[in-house]
Amino acid sequence: MPAMLVLGIESSCDETGVALYASGDGQLLAHALHSQVAMHQAYGGVVPELASRDHIRRAVPLLRQVLAESGRALADVDAVAYTQGPGLAGALLVGAAFAEALATSLGVPTLPVHHLEGHLLSPLLSKTPPRFPFVALLVSGGHTQLMRVTGVGHYELLGETLDDAAGEAFDKTAKLLGLGYPGGPALAQLAEQGRPDAFKLPRPMLNSGDLDFSFSGLKTAVLVQVRALTQDGATLDDRQRADIARAFQDAIVEVLVKKALRAVKESRLQQLVVAGGVGANRELRRQLDMRAARQKISVFYPELEFCTDNGAMIALAGALRLQAGASASPAKAAGAFAVRPRWPLADLTP
Ligand code: KG4
Ligand code: ZN
Repeated sequence: MPAMLVLGIESSCDETGVALYASGDGQLLAHALHSQVAMHQAYGGVVPELASRDHIRRAVPLLRQVLAESGRALADVDAVAYTQGPGLAGALLVGAAFAEALATSLGVPTLPVHHLEGHLLSPLLSKTPPRFPFVALLVSGGHTQLMRVTGVGHYELLGETLDDAAGEAFDKTAKLLGLGYPGGPALAQLAEQGRPDAFKLPRPMLNSGDLDFSFSGLKTAVLVQVRALTQDGATLDDRQRADIARAFQDAIVEVLVKKALRAVKESRLQQLVVAGGVGANRELRRQLDMRAARQKISVFYPELEFCTDNGAMIALAGALRLQAGASASPAKAAGAFAVRPRWPLADLTP
């Protein structure tokens, strides 16, 4: 297959990402990102309608930036990949409409991409990428899944969360501790100052005998601790908040690490890929690296900038699908394309 220049567009939640990827030599030529975090901060969470409107504002300037940085022209683009789902319906529609309209005007095909497939393949953008087959731990704000990955489009679900996603648990617990939005990174930072074992929290489903997770009880356990400490009108002091953050992070990290390594062993594989926003967590990386090394398992992470949502992983997923023989679809007019706000990854076919 000749080298293709694939434009990638991500707009599933609160980040607009655009990137240009050359499939021939597997090079990311340029990528640009706009995060809406500052805009949603005042509301304590993502406001879907505001997210959609902001994606509209950002798409063209980000595209211009990517073209300028790569030194390529729009006419050089061979295909447009975009996130079709899962995510916020309105936000997805902005990216889909933008991508389909652009592709129509250029006379090139489109590649609708599954957001989680983008996350899962994102470590392949690194200098030392994993090789198929591997086990992937997908830990984002909306998903916590263990997948057995044997090739592009070959994803077997091994286990997943029965309730809250890992990122969601981080965010909700952060809110309980008054850390605002997005709470995950703030909670992780606070946890670095906490003392180990100052508070004891459960390790949900650690010994459940399967590869599923459950994190909503952990958040409740934190709530119970906070209530007990503040029942006579007291407020938590900085040390208590840091200790609770540490206890929470230690609990969630231990469960994720042990179950992910168990999944690799049970699959008789040697490689683990960690992707999604929570994959940026430093303690998770420390613990995984340490325990995996003992079991001769190699762990692969995306570069930090590609852990959270971005356009590069979407361009990459589109390009890899083309290389694997998938056909791109002709660009569609308004009304003829659809987004998939709910879309199980294991439903994907090569
Ligand atoms: O993959 P992502 O950018 O978006 C989704 O597809 O959900 O993941 C965002 C999630 C949020 O829940 C955020 O709090 C969490 O990842 N996150 C972290 C860290 N950085 C981002 N959680 C824990 N520690 C971090 N350092
Ligand atoms: Zn994501």
